Formats: sequence, structure tokens, C-alpha cells
Amino acid sequence: MKTIDLDTVDIHLDPPDFEPQRQYYFMAKCREYVRAESSRLGRPLTCGVFTFGCQMNARDSEKLEGILRTAGYEAADSEDADFVIFNTCTVRDNANQRVYGRLGELKGRKRRNPSMKIALCGCMMQESSVIEKIRTSYPFVDLIFGTHNIYKFAELLYHSLETEGMLIDIWKDTDRIVENLPVERKYPFKSGINIMFGCNNFCSYCIVPYVRGRERSREPEDIIREIKELTADGVVEVMLLGQNVNSYGKNLNHSMTFAELLQEVEKIEGLRRIRFMTSHPKDLSDELIQVMKNSQKICRHLHLPLQSGSTRILQRMNRRYTKEQYVDLAMKIRSQIPDIAITTDIIVGFPGETPEDLEETIDVVRTVQFDNAFTFIYSKRTGTPAAAMEDQVPEAQVKKNFDRLLKVVQDTAREQAAKYEGTIGEALIEEVNQEDDGAQSCQSLVTGRLSNNMIVHVPGDASMIGKIVRVSLDECRGFYYMGTIRP
Ligand code: 5AD
Ligand code: SF4
Repeated sequence: MKTIDLDTVDIHLDPPDFEPQRQYYFMAKCREYVRAESSRLGRPLTCGVFTFGCQMNARDSEKLEGILRTAGYEAADSEDADFVIFNTCTVRDNANQRVYGRLGELKGRKRRNPSMKIALCGCMMQESSVIEKIRTSYPFVDLIFGTHNIYKFAELLYHSLETEGMLIDIWKDTDRIVENLPVERKYPFKSGINIMFGCNNFCSYCIVPYVRGRERSREPEDIIREIKELTADGVVEVMLLGQNVNSYGKNLNHSMTFAELLQEVEKIEGLRRIRFMTSHPKDLSDELIQVMKNSQKICRHLHLPLQSGSTRILQRMNRRYTKEQYVDLAMKIRSQIPDIAITTDIIVGFPGETPEDLEETIDVVRTVQFDNAFTFIYSKRTGTPAAAMEDQVPEAQVKKNFDRLLKVVQDTAREQAAKYEGTIGEALIEEVNQEDDGAQSCQSLVTGRLSNNMIVHVPGDASMIGKIVRVSLDECRGFYYMGTIRP
């Protein structure tokens, strides 16, 4: 973890006006509060950070935890902690419903531990209807903030600890990027890195541009410096994160393409693997394909959301490519980089989708042979253009289409996976796998990730975690492999 020396901060002065020093000041104030509370209770104070949603949120949660740990909280992986924060997602309604369910459960815990504090942040909090609902139905929540002022968490935390009642601070948008805040990484050997924030695409179903704001790229020097610090700290794999990484760098003073950024990242000594997410097909350049092809470090995996295979639906989705353009792009990538895995996202039940449109999507799945596809039932998001479209598809039809697509997707993914059976690959060992393995249940297994993002289980122990090893992919079991280590 990046450590910050709070002992040099004078908390008896007024807070500084500039960042990140202002936040260091409030971290020091929080630390004083935590120390006092701990000695009053005769035990350490604990915190629990719980994440809903995407990799961006997972990275934000590492920042929240970094600040809480710097302030003196001990991590407790339980909702019984003294400070509990839910970092929420709102991309589909079921993510929202899960947050409400878990929040209901917290009420009883707070009754048993009156000094407990409950905070909510993230994408869902950028919606005013959500704030209203929490105000009226969950009044025991102490702190609410959104996606734009997360860098101010230390300051908000301090004010919340010092006051009673609900503190709400939501910003509509920001162009600020504050560097050098503490981060507590979940894995010592791999890390996400934000390269840009927000999204300008306005796909008609998607709430992200409304909750994450306009696109802003981080300066390449800041990204490179952060990755160098991470590799010095033992990280071997990074995942460059953005809603649309292919448009990285457009708003910088010295504009830079994503492919150019990747080439700079490639040069970092000690770094072994580079991943990135997510790519919009309309912005994926030939330059990027060439850079990926020639790279020793960029993983053989591309996540390229299709959303629909019907040009008519794609147009209504405001995706700005046709079925043919998507297929041509995917096939070009496959021909240039034959061992690449292409994965995708598909939405079923977008307004106006007919059985014929679904057949078009299935046709793309069969042609491109996706290595994996995440299929989602369309969820109506208030405020998006698609929510106002009149021809919403009846639920029964959506369910039928979803099941039909899922079967095709699973069959193709299984076929793709089987292709590599009997070959040798490199896997980054990520964790110990305790699950029973049929007859050989006594054997201890570890789980590794191949360059193409597939999972392989091999015999081994915890000492291998974080190492990149050669493995033979002995047996394909649907979506993962059983393998053995090779010298
Ligand atoms: N309904 C269903 N799925 C959605 N996604 C985004 N918005 C919606 C929505 N309103 C899916 C897209 C995106 C993924 C992260 O979530 O497929 O790529
Ligand atoms: Fe991530 Fe979008 Fe969900 Fe926000 S709404 S957590 S950006 S998937």
C-alpha cells in the first residue's frame, strides 16, 4: 500500500485549500477520532468495504479502503464492522435491488452497535430518485456521496464521524482528477489502473454517461508513474481501466492514442502482463491491433461488447457500427492475432427487438465464435433514451430469447475452450482452490489465469501465488482447464 506520513500534518491548523494535501489533513483528523474511539471502546475500530458492479468500482473500493486503513481502521470482511460502506452500481436494476436488500439487513446491526456508521457511494447514488428513497426508507444511513467526489472521501468521512444524521454530498459532474491518494490493493500481484473516467458515447440503454460524467483521461506520466510504483511493489499484471479505452488521450493537452500509451506501458521493467477493458468497437484502431500483435506483454484477450447483432437494433442503441462492421473487425483481429480470445457483452430484449433481430445476433455469435459472452436482459434505466421507447418487449418473449441465446453462447464458448486442450500456456497463479475435485479431492489445487483469460487449476500450494508458470492444459472441462506445471 502507498503509505502517507500523517505525522507531518498539523491538524490544529485550518485545512489546506489544495489537493491532495487537504485530504491528508482530513485523514489525520479521522485518525485522531479513530484512536480516541478505540481507546474508549478498548478495541480497534473495523471497516468493511463492499463492492457492486464493474472493475472500475472494484478499483474505487481499493481507494476507499486505502483511506480507511490510513485513518486507522482495521479491515473486517464482515458487515459487522464499525464502518460499513457499499460502493454501488446501477447499470441494471437488479444491482440496485441487491443494495436495498443488503441495506435492510444492516438496520439490525446498527441497532446492536449504535456507534456503527453506514455509508453509500458509487453510481447508484448519482440518481436523485435513489437518494429520495434512501432518505425516506433507510434513514439510518450516515453518509452518501457519488462518483465525482470520491477523492474527497477522507473529508466527508471526518464530517460524518463528527456529526449526527445523514450527510449527503452528490456532484453532477467534475473535470477533476486528484492523484496520490492511498490505495489498499486486494491482490499483491495484480492491479487495476484507471486511465480514464466517464463516457461520451451515450448508448441509448446505458446510464453510465449520466452517473460517471464526461470522458476525462489521466496524464500518461501519472499512469506510468503509478504502474512503476506498483511493479516496484510486486505487481506483475495490470489492467488498464476505462469505459472506452480506445478513445484514451483525446482530451489531453498533448493528445496521445491508446496504442501509444500501451507501448509506453510495455517498456516498464518488471511488468509482465498488460490487460485492458473496455473497448468500443467503433474506436478500435488498426494501430492497436498491430501493437497488440507485436507485444510481448499485452494479454491475448480482447473484450469487445457487441450488444446486438442486428444493424437495426444497433442503430437504435446508438452504437455507431453495423453488424457487418463488427464482424469484419472481429475477423480482422482473429486473422492478425490467431491465439486471441474475444469476449463480449450482449443485451437481450432491447425495445423493438424481434425474433429476427435475435437471429442476427446468434449469427454473429456463430461467425465470430466468442470465447465467452456475458448476456444481459435489457433493464430499463430511467432517464435514458431507450426507457422512453414505446415498443418494450414482453417479459416472456425476452426470457425465451435469452435462453435461446445463452445456449448458443455456451456451446461456442465450450468449443473455443476445447481448442487449446493438450497445449502449453503460461498462467499467473492467483489463489488457492479448495474445492473438491471428484476422486482426487485430497489434492491441493491452485487457480491460474492464462493470457487469454481462461482459468486453469493445477496441483500446487499458496507459495505459488503471484508467480507466472508454464502449464500444460491437460483436460478442458467446459469453461476451465485441469492442468499440470511444466518446467
Ligand atoms: N440493460 C441491460 N444491460 C445493460 N448493460 C448496460 N446497460 C444495460 C441495460 N440498461 C450491459 C452492456 C454493457 C455491460 C457492462 O452491461 O452489455 O456492456
Ligand atoms: Fe461500473 Fe457502470 Fe455499474 Fe457504474 S453503473 S459500477 S460504471 S457498470
